[in-house]
Amino acid sequence: MGIIAAREGRCARPETASMSIPRVDGERLWSRLMAMAQIGATPKGGCNRQALTDGDLAGRELFARWARAAGCTVRVDAIGNLFAHRRGRAASSPAVLIGSHLDTQPTGGKFDGVYGVLGGLEVLETLNDRGLETERPLELAVWCNEEGCRFPAAMMGSAVWAGRMPLEAAYALTDRSGASVRGELERLGIDLKAPLERQPLAAALELHIEQGPVLEQRAKRIGIITGVQHMSRHEVTVLGQEAHAGPTPMEMRRDPIRVLADLLPRLYALTAAHGPQAKFTVGIIETFPGSPNTVPGRLRFTVDLRHPDLESYRALRAEAEREVAAALARHRLEGGIECVWQAPGVVFDAGCIAAVRDAAAALELDALEMVSGAGHDSVNVAAVAPTAMIFVPCAQGLSHNEAESASPADVENGANVLLNAVLKLANT
Ligand code: GLV
Ligand code: MN
Ligand code: MN
Repeated sequence: MGIIAAREGRCARPETASMSIPRVDGERLWSRLMAMAQIGATPKGGCNRQALTDGDLAGRELFARWARAAGCTVRVDAIGNLFAHRRGRAASSPAVLIGSHLDTQPTGGKFDGVYGVLGGLEVLETLNDRGLETERPLELAVWCNEEGCRFPAAMMGSAVWAGRMPLEAAYALTDRSGASVRGELERLGIDLKAPLERQPLAAALELHIEQGPVLEQRAKRIGIITGVQHMSRHEVTVLGQEAHAGPTPMEMRRDPIRVLADLLPRLYALTAAHGPQAKFTVGIIETFPGSPNTVPGRLRFTVDLRHPDLESYRALRAEAEREVAAALARHRLEGGIECVWQAPGVVFDAGCIAAVRDAAAALELDALEMVSGAGHDSVNVAAVAPTAMIFVPCAQGLSHNEAESASPADVENGANVLLNAVLKLANT
């Protein structure tokens, strides 16, 4: 993860100052996380609930049952975002939005996204338990297809909701079997005629596991997230010529794998030259027709590039594109690199960051201000509302992995910070 620590705070408070502060029910939150993890559970203890699968629908339905039982009204918009609404004293004033996503990677964990949704629900339950009203309404979002692994646009539902991606472009996305977002929404009974309206918002907060090692390594309990780094996904295509693996002499082949073999060391070296915050990932490599004894006629692979600093990010992208063009030329093969998705970095809102900082301080939790290396729906939400995020440590920094884990105490701490930051933002 490309994390920059901007500021460190040891939150000194008198011994008893935090005693009267409202707190969530950590056991209820943990048991709901474990119940949700049963849906799409994998043999190695993780979850496979990719967007718009039957498992994703089952997870959303379980959440909707809990939200209705907590007194919320629930609605689903035309791109499959789900919103649970809790009324405020000033019913028509702009709401405070919380939430995250329930979809997972194919070998995902129990916490990525789910923690932000169920941590948000725990905030609403705690307010109910204490009979606390807020001035502003609270809106708990479950964003559709945050991961962008099955349908290749991360943070899709929040992008459409924020007006940053056309609805029809999202509907047209297809998975590797050819199934479309539109078709899968219809198959799951999601009403495409439902309004796609953006509720007026006063502020937004997202609770998440860090997905990197920094908080754990520095023995910090809370990450106060000041922004998200720049990121983009690219597809490289190389056209070769299908030929028999036996009789075809090596020098006669037009083999696209030569380009991959040539490029990879150059791209790793280029990334390293931009320092430890530069990130380069090849997540998918596909050959066509995909036969062990045929030289591929076509190669496709993905490149994910990230950097927190805009100039370095731009340079990394431009140099990677030049390397691809040069490798194609060296091997006299056709092809190219195309950017298929990007999310410019964001700087979060000072007022929302302050609400998180104050809540962590009031709870006497040791906190670190940092930039997120992972993408989040908050990137899109921040385009239309003041936004910030809260992180908790993630064991060994491991995420997008079935072994992803967080401690019950950290899970409870993060939800307590969310609760108190929400109380501040919803009552002022
Ligand atoms: C979202 O999980 C990302 O790719 O950062
Ligand atoms: Mn996530
Ligand atoms: Mn993720």
